Amino acid sequence: MDGILSFLSAELRADDTRKIGNIARANLYSRGIHGGMVTRHIISIGDFDRRQIDRLLDNAKRIDAQKYDKNALVGKILATLFFEPSTRTRMSFEAAMARLGGTSISVGSVEACSIAKGETLADTIRVVSGYADAIVIRHPKEGAARLAAQFASVPVINAGDGAGQHPSQTLLDLYTIRQSMKLDGISIALIGDLRYGRTAHSLASALSLYHAKLHTISPKGLELPTSLNTELSEKGMEITEHEDFRDVIKEVDVIYVTRIQRERFPDSASYFNVASSYRITPELLAGAKKHAIVLHPLPRVDEIDPRVDILPHAKYFEQSKNGVPVRMAMLLQVMQ
Ligand code: CP
Repeated sequence: MDGILSFLSAELRADDTRKIGNIARANLYSRGIHGGMVTRHIISIGDFDRRQIDRLLDNAKRIDAQKYDKNALVGKILATLFFEPSTRTRMSFEAAMARLGGTSISVGSVEACSIAKGETLADTIRVVSGYADAIVIRHPKEGAARLAAQFASVPVINAGDGAGQHPSQTLLDLYTIRQSMKLDGISIALIGDLRYGRTAHSLASALSLYHAKLHTISPKGLELPTSLNTELSEKGMEITEHEDFRDVIKEVDVIYVTRIQRERFPDSASYFNVASSYRITPELLAGAKKHAIVLHPLPRVDEIDPRVDILPHAKYFEQSKNGVPVRMAMLLQVMQ
């Protein structure tokens, strides 16, 4: 695994890296124009306003109730480019495409892709645009999906860019919360690696649209980035930092647990300094609100005791299952 990851982190060529810097500075919108056609990309949860999120979640609910056209995407092809490991995101996008009558193609493995021969991400995206009607990309570098969107002539969906964003995960997180309670005004604890955890970044941004109260609990050095904290506070979000989850367990409606992102650490020693520093257990949850739910984007390592799995609070496996209807709604949005 280490070999693959170090190969991946070196995989963006200098010209790609320069382009990512330029694109980040240019603050581009997620709509590209190619040959006079408008291309709809989903790069960041910030690309959505609240009305658009609500509409997409309503569409996902209709799909969940089997009210959708099973031939809606017949003849369409989805390319999945995953330059980092994935189970849920890749498989649920491919399952979503199949449920809508479409087909998926992908590179068989990271090493099998011609980026290994020195091809730039930009050229790869230009080429794949000729083979597919939409591209889902996961990449270890923040900004890579935005870069891909600039070179694609078909819609690009960001399936996670380094420590940046993971918008499809956020949409299914919101969908899962909405199955248990109204989103407006919820109190949520974000626990774990809030520095590198892209799911936490995207979710916090989205919840600022719903007047949520945010409680952050993270090991030292893995706090929410200051820039994001400031941005959310300026939008009026109430954010409180805590050292111990027990300080807030009685007041939160949602307990969102994240994995320490080992692959983003510079070395093993700095990872092991913070690894296993928190764990959600049944004993801890005995102090939670009756209706409180525990979410985790998964995979988990040891952040949630498996004994929690059978408690009514545990919603993380339903959460990952919700990836299919939510991603079906996303594919319909960008491909129809
Ligand atoms: N939640 C999530 O992104 O899982 P995968 O890494 O398995 O896709």
